[in-house]
Amino acid sequence: MKMQNSTLGSLTNRVALVTGASSGIGKAIAQRLASEGAIVYINYRGQASKAKSLAAQIQAKGGLGIPIRADISKESDIKKMFQKITSDQKRLDILVNNAGLESKAPILKMKTKDWDLVINTNLRGSFLCARAAAQMMAKRKTGVIINISSVHETIPWGGYAHYCASKSGIMMLTKTMALELASLNIRVNNIAPGAISTPINDSWIHKPAIKKVVLDKIPEQRIGTPEEVAGAVSYLVSDEARYITGISLFIDGGMTLYSSFLKQG
Ligand code: BGC
Repeated sequence: MKMQNSTLGSLTNRVALVTGASSGIGKAIAQRLASEGAIVYINYRGQASKAKSLAAQIQAKGGLGIPIRADISKESDIKKMFQKITSDQKRLDILVNNAGLESKAPILKMKTKDWDLVINTNLRGSFLCARAAAQMMAKRKTGVIINISSVHETIPWGGYAHYCASKSGIMMLTKTMALELASLNIRVNNIAPGAISTPINDSWIHKPAIKKVVLDKIPEQRIGTPEEVAGAVSYLVSDEARYITGISLFIDGGMTLYSSFLKQG
């Protein structure tokens, strides 16, 4: 079944897959790419109703969003997801590797299963999706892959060694893939968000005392929005960015400019 999106834009009829797209940053990215004309596969794991309602919102605006279930920590799920996209569309132009999770686990108490879950979802899942996408893109010698890492690809974060290791790994996965795939006209870039208002940050974003601790680390003195991250994705997947590959683009209000230990005097 080949589907077309009626929205006209710079991404008209390009086929995109956004992982972890039922909420937060992934949702904003899916909305943005669909608004520019891409046919967007909305990957979700458990939140089917949210993915369906996002597809309906996109459709109401004249776009095309297609929910697709897969647990990114499971290779068999990923295989099925790519088989479905291949049989529906015969192509994939854009992959946004956004699915990820974080959980606090100080190193002395971290269980092997805590480590495995975060690494398997964030890093191994990004690799499996990127490899499957690159194999599809290589056949047509065109494509763009965006990996979503974090400021914690470079800023260490106590209690989150597994998360930081996964995000740093994503950054090097990006750079190495960019190097290998440039000759096939496949660009691979990394976006590294800072503190963004998403469900992942719900536990502290409405608590002024904790929020202040985070804001003290952000020169712009505010939390970013998912739409600000989506804007960067929109640029990097566009033809305007055709000479850009292998970068990490920080969307963090300057968070990476300061050491966490710097005291304002
Ligand atoms: C994490 C957020 C955190 C932010 C800045 C992100 O990668 O997902 O929970 O607030 O980094 O520390």
